[in-house]
Amino acid sequence: MCGIIGYTGPLMAKEILLEGLAQLEYRGYDSAGIALLADEGGAALNAGGAASTFSADSGVWPAALSGAGAMTAAEALGDTAHPTATGVRRRPTASHAGPSPITVIKKTGKVKGLRAYCGSLPVDGHCGIGHTRWATHGGVTDANAHPHQAGEITLIHNGIIENYQELIDTFHLQGKLLSQTDTEVAAWVLDALVREEVGDIAKAIARLLALIRGSYGFCILYASRPGEIYAVRNVSPLVASYTPSGALVASDLTAIIPYSRSYFVVPENALVRLTPYRIDVTGPEGDPITPEMLEVNWNVDAAMKNGYPHYMLKEIHEQPRAMENTILPRLDKGLPDFAQDGIPDAVFTGCERIHIIACGTAMHAGMVARSMYEPLLRIPVAVWVASEFRYEDPLVDGGTLAIVISQSGETIDTLAAMRLASEKGAATLSIVNVKGSTIARESDYAFYTHAGPEIAVASTKAYSVQLAALYLIGCRAAMLRGKYTPEEAKVFVTNLLDAIPAMEMMMGQKERIRGLTSHLIHEKDAFFIGRGLDYALSLEGALKLKEISYIHAEAHAAGELKHGTIALIAPLVPVVAIATQEHVFAKMISNIREVKARDAFVILVSKLSAPVGDGVANVRLSIPDLPDAFCVFPVVVFLQLLAYYAAVGKNLNVDQPRNLAKSVTVE
Ligand code: F6R
Repeated sequence: MCGIIGYTGPLMAKEILLEGLAQLEYRGYDSAGIALLADEGGAALNAGGAASTFSADSGVWPAALSGAGAMTAAEALGDTAHPTATGVRRRPTASHAGPSPITVIKKTGKVKGLRAYCGSLPVDGHCGIGHTRWATHGGVTDANAHPHQAGEITLIHNGIIENYQELIDTFHLQGKLLSQTDTEVAAWVLDALVREEVGDIAKAIARLLALIRGSYGFCILYASRPGEIYAVRNVSPLVASYTPSGALVASDLTAIIPYSRSYFVVPENALVRLTPYRIDVTGPEGDPITPEMLEVNWNVDAAMKNGYPHYMLKEIHEQPRAMENTILPRLDKGLPDFAQDGIPDAVFTGCERIHIIACGTAMHAGMVARSMYEPLLRIPVAVWVASEFRYEDPLVDGGTLAIVISQSGETIDTLAAMRLASEKGAATLSIVNVKGSTIARESDYAFYTHAGPEIAVASTKAYSVQLAALYLIGCRAAMLRGKYTPEEAKVFVTNLLDAIPAMEMMMGQKERIRGLTSHLIHEKDAFFIGRGLDYALSLEGALKLKEISYIHAEAHAAGELKHGTIALIAPLVPVVAIATQEHVFAKMISNIREVKARDAFVILVSKLSAPVGDGVANVRLSIPDLPDAFCVFPVVVFLQLLAYYAAVGKNLNVDQPRNLAKSVTVE
């Protein structure tokens, strides 16, 4: 939800910002903008102050990046700066008491449009910030796009300022605002505060944060401190890195990884000051903070399309490897072992109830787990839509294990629900893909999935690895609670691994699946039905189809259709029937016959050897004969490909569907 990037350093910032925004665009794509700080022959800066310093090992920039051959920082800036113990001190090259030296360029539409527009403008600088927006306050207009400017302040924001109206009143901002955004309010408030603090921007930012209610990631330029970017966050994500090419801050790693593999997560409520020579991190009292440096565990290729027409198709194909990466390091002599994750056995032996909490696709993964856990573990297991959990007063106590699932690790509803569960005494175990994300850090135990970056808005590989994680957790809990012998647990793991080639086999049928969409794309509605695990899968199939192809899709427990929804079944209406669960197979066939009798167009997915009679389906797709619990893996590949080819067939923007954004940091 909104992408943020900031850069200051020896290179020209415009291209870095535009490239970064292109990488971050999946976070929001209503509008985009950049702000560039004009400079005269090099970025002006004023380093110093007592704070931790993060600097590159050498002052040499890669020739490819600088375009000027290898050189030292001072050489590239045409300056004779001298490194000191606290960094490099230089005299500001310009005074900016007059009109703002900061140029803002912003536009509705995609980054591509912004790039084309910028190309015709002779503006650049060595320091700047950029933003790609997912509208919350105020419609999609040029004025509402970020950055926002007020006096000497220019800033970008990801999040929501809940008390913006109160701030407008307190600071008498009526009549001043040029946009309808909460962000512009923050810019004006900060401008007022920095004047009150006679230019002490750190103090002014601290006062602003004390006034704001809500979530935020801000990057701020202050015209009187050229070459510097100030970054702060609360809940909304920000990572930063000091690299040989300069200092960068961004909403996520995809924008930073072309420059560096090491980074840190901006600590909440700390002030981060980026200069071309170092990054300072200070706490609320100005005390230096040394954040933990992390290494990226994927390479830049992982965030590229690598020859695929869309990220979504690439990510569908990455699933087998992602599954292996998530499962294999957690096996010890063929049995699940979470020693490397630091998850003690007591988490599983001590719990009397499990709440699984998540949103969207992650919640659908939770539904599959619920169907498996309760019969296996014989304890109550509930699945919650995170935004409902908070307001339903659920039964949570010290005997509760809350399993929280989130690809991004930053979904605000999920985070808030996890905090509530924790407050009520539950142990929290998160299943998260993004390393160092808020949910991972705040949970008692984090189980990282290793899917690599997921860029397409529609989640695919994250879902399968969430399932893999949940299966491993279920298996280990069953072992520890005496429900599985080690032999049974080994068979379970073998079955899980066997599901991986079955996923690959489904990918081999992609042309056939593409063929199925020639009918689907002309329909307005589609239905997905199944029982048990297949019902949980149906929900995911319907969500995938509607979010990227805009075909209205509904999922129903197959036995429930006749209680109302069957009224919508008319000739040729597509019904995707998933029938992989042997104990309800006969019942499922009866439900399919009910829709077939109304001339629905039935696409049936079942096991190869399933006894499907004549005339049950218009089209039948088979998966290998896996044990029932493991059929979800190949079937979900089918559902993903079906949605993908439907969107492609309708010539839609597969990776960036309308109205959506990759991570949802608003409630
Ligand atoms: C759908 C999709 C969303 C997310 C949901 C939760 O394809 O991607 O439904 O699953 O917004 O996001 P995370 O997992 O990041 O918490």
